[in-house]
Amino acid sequence: MERTFCMIKPDGVSRNLTGEILVRLERKGYKVLGLKKMIISRELAEHHYGEHKGKPFFDGLVTFITSGPVVAMVLEGPGVIAELRKLMGATNPKDAVPGTIRADYATSIDENVVHGSANADDAQREIGLFFKPEELVN
Ligand code: RTP
Ligand code: MG
Repeated sequence: MERTFCMIKPDGVSRNLTGEILVRLERKGYKVLGLKKMIISRELAEHHYGEHKGKPFFDGLVTFITSGPVVAMVLEGPGVIAELRKLMGATNPKDAVPGTIRADYATSIDENVVHGSANADDAQREIGLFFKPEELVN
């Protein structure tokens, strides 16, 4: 059994896509262990996307992810880390396979609706950044 961190980004929340995305995740059989709507601080955003610090898109990425509420969640299921990434589709919606969340809803590489941890180490780190252990309930 694996856990991963997933987040509906400000564009997805403001476009009322939260329900659509949750339906897709639950239909896959994933358990939602933690779920909250929140506005991310600049500090949290810089930690969360720390691997991208110094890249040309970093400042814009932090500004975007803090620009409005997100819906943060922890998902559990066998193979959920890699499966969620598949379900999301490629970072740039132009490259995303039809039927993926980003192919269906993302409008650009910057506003791509959803985040999912890239690997097991990131999943553990990101879950710890956003949730206290007692906020995760099965
Ligand atoms: P995320 O972390 O948000 O789930 O996205 P990802 O793994 O698919 O992509 P990642 O490489 O981690 O990049 C994080 C976000 O930064 C923006 N980005 N822009 N202009 C560019 O070359 C570029 N590369 C990345 C995207 O918005 C991406 O989701
Ligand atoms: Mg990433």
